[in-house]
Amino acid sequence: MMNEQQVDLKQAALIGMNWIPCGRNNVQEVINPATGHLLGTVPKLSKEHIHNAIEIAEQAFNAWRKTSTNHRCAILTKWYQKIEENEERLASIITLEQGKPFAEALGEIRYAASYIKWYSQPTLQDNGSIIKGDVENESLSIVTEPVGLCAAITPWNFPAAMLTRKAAPALAVGCSIIIKPAPETPFTALALSELALQAGVPPGLINVVTGDAPVIGDILCSSKKIKKLSFTGSTLVGKKLMQACAPTVKRLSLELGGNAPFIVCNDADVDKAIDGAMQSKFRNAGQTCVCANAFYVHDSLYERFAEGLEKRIKALSLGQGSQPHSDIGPLINESALEKVDALVRDAKEKGGNIVCGGSRWSESDRWYLPTLITQATVDMRCVQEEIFGPVVALVRYSDEDKLIAQLRLQDTGLAAYFYSDSLSRIHQLAAELNVGMVGINTGLISDAAMPFGGVKSSGVGREGGRQGIMEYLETKYIKLCY
Ligand code: SIN
Repeated sequence: MMNEQQVDLKQAALIGMNWIPCGRNNVQEVINPATGHLLGTVPKLSKEHIHNAIEIAEQAFNAWRKTSTNHRCAILTKWYQKIEENEERLASIITLEQGKPFAEALGEIRYAASYIKWYSQPTLQDNGSIIKGDVENESLSIVTEPVGLCAAITPWNFPAAMLTRKAAPALAVGCSIIIKPAPETPFTALALSELALQAGVPPGLINVVTGDAPVIGDILCSSKKIKKLSFTGSTLVGKKLMQACAPTVKRLSLELGGNAPFIVCNDADVDKAIDGAMQSKFRNAGQTCVCANAFYVHDSLYERFAEGLEKRIKALSLGQGSQPHSDIGPLINESALEKVDALVRDAKEKGGNIVCGGSRWSESDRWYLPTLITQATVDMRCVQEEIFGPVVALVRYSDEDKLIAQLRLQDTGLAAYFYSDSLSRIHQLAAELNVGMVGINTGLISDAAMPFGGVKSSGVGREGGRQGIMEYLETKYIKLCY
């Protein structure tokens, strides 16, 4: 892990081939969440800068869309290689600005790179077809074309992977992109984009704009030149962006909040379920859209599961992401800590039993203690809302049909997990759970080759896999008479 002095942060925005430095006053501060110290600054770009970025990215698109698939994929492969060569530095930047342990940050860089590798396969773009019409001398063909200039608004929790998951398919099919990274984590986006330029991505295809989120968001959403917006973040902001994009009828991909149930059925392998629960829940200190949120444990296994989980949770070590053995880093900021604490207090008031944790860490109030709540009930906020913190609440159930019926009414539908050894139940539950992704006997489901996304308030569209490429393509029908 490199320290703050060694990483050499790019404290500038990227428009075309120009790095826009920080002015004297108009800057956005980036704080290391583990120390509360200033890590660096990026510019608060003016409206003119954003309009300029749109012009430049549109020009770049007009040249790029005419290049061959092989050419684009070869450049993506070089970007992938650059990321591989620089993985220690990139992971250090994530740890410094986001807080996750270095080993997890390295995992995220490899995960991010895997999207570029996946989308650098030319064969993925074999989407057209030609058929002979009913009438002689007539051919009917379908071709795909890049949607055009795209905008991406990326989150702080996975600052590398959520960027490449959008930028790689966009560039692969011939689009250009303007990225607005989360204000908490711009340096990862800037470092990745710098490597893209070094890899030979032509200037103007990847632009990184920093500054005032509502101002930038308004310009990107209302611009007629931007044909698509991809956003990962909260459902609340996703709905606002959807409205803001309505006048220009933009294509949208929205990966929004989840509230993934984790169900331990009566025939589950409890030890494996505990492993899966730990992997899913404590990844990035619980600050993951797709992580297990509310745990439903069958009455017959409840005590065994709770006891096993308690031991594992108590063994987690807290510390700065830069320290070799830390499992849990700080939460991203004060409002995240306050939200998690409010949910735990609500559970306590409603009769929840705090088995361990339940407060901030005595050594630093930037961490929330890994917390286990038993006797949780469905009226508690930590069961109904996305926690985004290291808190496990165990709800006891005995009637599976009733549980599934109740889960189907949930407003969100990103992911669901369950543990069972019965083949018929596996098929039945996988079909009944009304979500975009299901993990069965596993707590980790993310994979560049597979479509990631949710239903209902958890979003629209898919990222990753073959489905992810279609999000950046338009379909054109051509009828030729000869
Ligand atoms: C997320 O929090 O939505 C991203 C997690 C992942 O891709 O695995």
